[in-house]
Amino acid sequence: MPGDEEKEFDDLRLLLDTVHQRSGLDFREYAFSSLRRRVARAVRETGTENVSGLHLRLKSDGQALDYLIRQLTVHTTAMFRDPGFFRVLREQVVPVLKTYPFVRLWVAGCSTGEEVYSLSILLHEEGIAERCRIYATDLSENVLERARAGVFPLAAMQEYSRNYQLAGGRVPFSDYFTADTESVIFRRHLRDNVVFGTHNLVSDASFNEFHLILCRNVMIYFQRELQERVHALFHDSLVTFGFLGLGRSEAVRFTAYRDCYDTIDAKERVFRKIK
Ligand SMILES: C[S@@+](CC[C@H](N)C(=O)[O-])C[C@H]1O[C@@H](n2cnc3c(N)ncnc32)[C@H](O)[C@@H]1O
Repeated sequence: MPGDEEKEFDDLRLLLDTVHQRSGLDFREYAFSSLRRRVARAVRETGTENVSGLHLRLKSDGQALDYLIRQLTVHTTAMFRDPGFFRVLREQVVPVLKTYPFVRLWVAGCSTGEEVYSLSILLHEEGIAERCRIYATDLSENVLERARAGVFPLAAMQEYSRNYQLAGGRVPFSDYFTADTESVIFRRHLRDNVVFGTHNLVSDASFNEFHLILCRNVMIYFQRELQERVHALFHDSLVTFGFLGLGRSEAVRFTAYRDCYDTIDAKERVFRKIK
C-alpha cells in the first residue's frame, strides 16, 4: 500500500539519519531495496517490533548501533572471484603496467582482503610486485583487520584454487599459504606491498593518482547519484590511460564518464581512461 510504503521509507530515513549522526557513516544514498531487507533482518534479530523500535534501541544502545552498521554492509567476496576478470588483468592490463617504473593500485571496498591477495599473487607471478604498491581500503575497520591478518578458512581453498587455475595461475595454489586444521595463513611477502586503511567512498576524497583502480561489487549497493560521485572520484584519481575494473553488474556506460573510457573487456568490466 502506498501509505505504508511511504511510512516505511520515512522510518528508514530517520533511522539512517541517526546512524549518520552517531557514527559519521552515511548510508542514506545506498540502494533502498537492499537497505530495506537488511534493516528488516536487524529488526528480527534484535527482537525489536519494527524500524521505529530499532531506532529507539539505537539511541540508548551503542552495541545495537555497531550491529546495525555491520548488517548494512555486504562483505561477500572470494579469491580470484570471476576468474575471467583476473585473466584480463594478467593478459591485457599487466603488460601495460610493466611499462611504468612504479605502479600504484587501489582496491576500493576490499572487504576481508581476498581480492587484494589475488591481485598481489598475480603481480608476483608477473614479476612486477616489487615496484607496485596496492592501497586496499574499506569503510569497515573490522574487515580490514581480517584482511591484514591474511587468515582464511581452509574450507574455501578448494574453490579458490579452482578460480586461481582458471585465472591463469602458474603454480599449485597451496604454494601461497600454510594450513592448519581449519584455516590457512597467506605468505607474508604477499602483503609487503600492500597498505590497508579505511576510506569511505561516500565522504572521503582522493588520496593519490593510480594506474589501476578496482572497485568491484561495491557501487551496486549505491543509488545512481552516489554512483556518479564515486565515478567522479575514480576519474580524478586515475592517471590518463589508467585502468578501472568494476564488478560484473557495474558499468561506466550509464554515467557522465562513459566517453572518458575505452572498453578493454565488456564482459569482465575492464575500462581504460582515455580523457
Ligand atoms: C560485496 S563486498 C565486495 C568485496 C570485493 N571488492 C569483491 O568484489 O569481492 C563490498 C565491500 O564494500 C565495502 N563498502 C561499502 N560501502 C562502502 C563505502 N562507502 N566506502 C568504502 N567501502 C564500502 C563494504 O564494507 C564491503 O566490504
